[in-house]
Amino acid sequence: MVEEVLEWLDLNPEGLYVDATVGTGGHAAAILARLTTGRLIGLDKDPMALSIAQERLREFQPRLQLVRSSYAHLPDVLEQLGASPVDGLLADLGVSTLQLDAPERGFSFQAAGPLDMRMDPDSPVTADDWVNRAREQDLAELLARCGDERHAKKIARAIVRSRPLRDTLHLAQVVTGTRKPKGRQKLHPATRTFLALRIAVNREQEELEQFLLRVPVALKSGGRVVILSYHSLEDRLVKHTFREQAAAGTLRVLTRKVVRPRPEEVAANPRARSARLRAAEKQGME
Ligand SMILES: C[S@@+](CC[C@H](N)C(=O)[O-])C[C@H]1O[C@@H](n2cnc3c(N)ncnc32)[C@H](O)[C@@H]1O
Repeated sequence: MVEEVLEWLDLNPEGLYVDATVGTGGHAAAILARLTTGRLIGLDKDPMALSIAQERLREFQPRLQLVRSSYAHLPDVLEQLGASPVDGLLADLGVSTLQLDAPERGFSFQAAGPLDMRMDPDSPVTADDWVNRAREQDLAELLARCGDERHAKKIARAIVRSRPLRDTLHLAQVVTGTRKPKGRQKLHPATRTFLALRIAVNREQEELEQFLLRVPVALKSGGRVVILSYHSLEDRLVKHTFREQAAAGTLRVLTRKVVRPRPEEVAANPRARSARLRAAEKQGME
């Protein structure tokens, strides 16, 4: 949703922007191409993504700074760079195609890979810790809460009984085995289990919450924040936090209704189908 992101950010070509999830630099390139004397700071917790972004954004180098960090630490990063407050913030949440398509990262149930799922390869908890070591009850609670999985208890029981699980394909098989075969289904039976594990391994809810709470402090008066979410748990958190910040008088919500991708974009990029965009503006005096 590059066009929509640019539209809602309402870029000032001389402004200072943060792409909090720079990934391989797609949105960052579009922003940088529209800046004249402006600058972009790009954050990501995945060093592999950052090295690809570095290469891809080479032509913009003097106006770009890439930092390996979680967006949960945004205020510290900005303080260290002497770059606060900023004119705009973008967060394109979740996992990247780069991560999903690399079996060795363990995000996909389509190919065998280690039970890893860490976006930051130095973070302490892996999917293996959850799958092979967590208590059945905790696993069931996680699948229900983060994956919205109706069959959470059944799946958690099957996982615990099948231990040790070797890899992502083994996990996908165990989850699929808990369902009666039903012909072609819209969603792979392991989708929600993999989503829940990814959310837990990367502490996605906690880090998003910390980031959202710090948005008003990081923005200049009139500065904008644009968030792209891909599942309801994320979108709900964005919606509620924006609402609370609007009630507190720190942000003004710009998207009265959530913005969805255009049908042409979904046709060209099926992974965009679940994208939801929300934008807000910093209120008050600087
Ligand atoms: C959907 S991709 C972003 C793609 C990017 N907008 C582009 O155009 O290439 C999400 C990225 O956010 C990163 N990420 C996820 N959680 C993060 C966090 N808490 N802090 C920083 N980066 C994070 C992931 O490593 C991934 O590279």
